[in-house]
Amino acid sequence: MHHFHAQNGQLCAEDVPLEDIAREVGTPVYIYSTATLTRHYRVFADALAGASVPHLICYAMKANSNQAVVSLLGNLGAGMDVVSGGELMRALSAGVPAHKVVFAGVGKTDAELAEGIDAGILCFNAESESELAALSAVAVQKGTRAPVSLRVNPDVESGTHAKIATGAKETKFGVPASRAREIYARAAQMPGLKVVGVDMHIGSQITALEPFDAAFNVLGDLLDALRSDGHPIEHVDVGGGLGVPYDDAVADPPRPEEYAAVVARHSNRFGCQVLVEPGRMIAANAGILLTRVVHRKEGDGKTFLVVDAAMNDLIRPTLYDAHHEIRPVRPAGGPSEIVDVVGPVCETGDYLALSRPLAPQDRGDLLAIMTAGAYGAVQSGTYNTRALVPEVLVSGSEWAVVRPPMLPAEQIKRERVPDFVKAVGQDMARS
Ligand code: LLP
Repeated sequence: MHHFHAQNGQLCAEDVPLEDIAREVGTPVYIYSTATLTRHYRVFADALAGASVPHLICYAMKANSNQAVVSLLGNLGAGMDVVSGGELMRALSAGVPAHKVVFAGVGKTDAELAEGIDAGILCFNAESESELAALSAVAVQKGTRAPVSLRVNPDVESGTHAKIATGAKETKFGVPASRAREIYARAAQMPGLKVVGVDMHIGSQITALEPFDAAFNVLGDLLDALRSDGHPIEHVDVGGGLGVPYDDAVADPPRPEEYAAVVARHSNRFGCQVLVEPGRMIAANAGILLTRVVHRKEGDGKTFLVVDAAMNDLIRPTLYDAHHEIRPVRPAGGPSEIVDVVGPVCETGDYLALSRPLAPQDRGDLLAIMTAGAYGAVQSGTYNTRALVPEVLVSGSEWAVVRPPMLPAEQIKRERVPDFVKAVGQDMARS
């Protein structure tokens, strides 16, 4: 469910014609819908509440950390799941209370641990014994105890793309469930730690409920053991990961209510607050990437639409073989043709879709790359000295640029040519 639909023969974001945004901001541009973001948050919160799960939703900011998006979700009541000092800063500057922030990640530095302690966050989700020791040391230095959960790796197969599966024992994430008790016992002895919970996350874009069910079973068993060992567990963090529909031709993933029902089946046994960290299901289809056809090119038995968005703007097709639906902004009649939709970057891997049936498009036509609100702009870069892509947020008939583009001139201005390089030029000029 989203709010990008045709009105008067052209695709709109809520009530704003995409052509208006393209005209004023240019393309490529990410466009997000306030109504969709709000709806997804509420539907998920209502599903958990409806299933009587005592919960806090900590939105996984890595999916889309634009200040406007984080502020909106914070205003709706969301906490945040952050994975760096930078994301923590974003959450706090968007006004999200620190006591609703959890801090994940395998490589938190001492400086980041200190920032989390200073802010007074809800919990550190620690991923190793080394991190527990470092966190304890930093907390002791500050004369306090840091609230901590251990991320446990339940060793379940989530059936998702290998690059985004995290719950199998071969990945770098968490500690093996079989060693968790022993590590918890050690954590409880550390002078700078306060053990408050248990944490888990098995992967992203998971399209079945069974992996969650299996992982929650492991969590339940562990919780029983930890409680009998005397650890006062106040919350269980079950991670994020519920998939979204990317491909109109593939069956939809489970709905939030179905996911909530699985959580609810385990939450009595958990007997405490449940934290959930959805990212993709809140943001993905709340956003599109709008792009314009620059050239139409007939190859050897192949038609290419060269558009002005590229892998530096949306890397998901290149990196994860991801499918994104593509909709013409002005739906044209006539039979569709099979095209490769490619960007201008000098790599064969620079494409947004391969062998895709699409109504015939020409130079200047606008295309919407759908379901690009999560892991889109946050993974963008400036490869080939392209502008860092701008972002727009729409609400009803209003809209605002929430990140202007970072243009090449600005990128070049940030760089420095040291004197020893200038000297090389001078030597050359003399010789
Ligand atoms: N919690 C933790 C600890 C995570 O590592 C992640 C995602 C989430 C929550 C949120 O998962 P979600 O609800 O969004 O599935 N760049 C990839 C996705 C990477 C996901 C990393 N972790 C992509 O474009 O598909």
